[in-house]
Amino acid sequence: MNQYANVRMRRNRRDNFNRKLVREVTLSCDDLIQPIFVCEGQNYREAIPTMPGVERLSLDLILKQAENLVALGIPAIALFPVIRAEAKTPDAEESFNPEGLIPRVVRALRAHLPELGVITDVALDCYTSHGQDGLLDGSGYVVNDATVAVLVRQALSHAEAGAQIVAPSDMMDGRIGAIREAFEEQCYVNTRILAYSAKYASAFYGPFRDALESAPKEGDKKTYQMDPSNAREAIREIHSDEEEGADWLLIKPGLPYLDVIRLTREHSELPIAAYHVSGEYAMLKAAEEKGWLDYESCLMESLVSLRRAGADMIFTYGAIDAASILKR
Ligand code: PBG
Repeated sequence: MNQYANVRMRRNRRDNFNRKLVREVTLSCDDLIQPIFVCEGQNYREAIPTMPGVERLSLDLILKQAENLVALGIPAIALFPVIRAEAKTPDAEESFNPEGLIPRVVRALRAHLPELGVITDVALDCYTSHGQDGLLDGSGYVVNDATVAVLVRQALSHAEAGAQIVAPSDMMDGRIGAIREAFEEQCYVNTRILAYSAKYASAFYGPFRDALESAPKEGDKKTYQMDPSNAREAIREIHSDEEEGADWLLIKPGLPYLDVIRLTREHSELPIAAYHVSGEYAMLKAAEEKGWLDYESCLMESLVSLRRAGADMIFTYGAIDAASILKR
């Protein structure tokens, strides 16, 4: 008898039934959130070259797309607007226009599919002419408190339109508490806040900025988004967002930051979302186009890895693909 016979790890991998029973985490349609790029127009769709398979869609097409999501059992969508260049200003006034693109899409979705969760992005980068997530002072620095005041107005316009969840992705200090207070005062007591708690200054957002034409005209976002070298700092962000009244926490990007998701799981009892971002999706699609990787298998492995790290839910451009694969 060989010396390993008592402990043969492979016994538990011998049969499919056994592998199913000992599986530690699973991925289900219930865990998926589909980000959607919305634009003005009628029956209008436009491909995004750096995100094969993802399109900018006008409101009427979004309603159809949302029907598909509901049919597949995906619980929620996250909306991101393509704002016309003419509507962009240094101080992002369009971001809190109650008749703006996002409030109009939210109202239509809530009326058409009341059971679908609608998550809106609270941030100014799509609305500023300079592409930063906030207002600038004379030196080009993004000022915190004046930006938070605009974010509060933006979040209120989304809540008023019927969004069940608003998701501040801007990384200003104190914005969760300020939005929570305004919601309580205005009787939006059940509108949830998903805090992008640890959002890193990442190059993996490149294709997203192509999709929304929202790349900063000058400089980068390193004075507000986190340094990729830091993990302990993420714990401080998590604790402050919790104290300010966040309902969910989000870590972003996904796969390069699995350790941060795990740390968040260990330091918080709140639900955790991971964002499998545009660059992660683009890498899989590009490798598929070259015939170098199997997109479907790599997507499912990426998503289950985010779950294993501790994410309860995942924002992914592959949500429809993953749900279709799970249904098969
Ligand atoms: C905007 C925002 C960004 C993403 C989500 N919200 C871009 C950025 O911060 O520059 C990136 C999402 C992705 O890459 O998929 N505040």
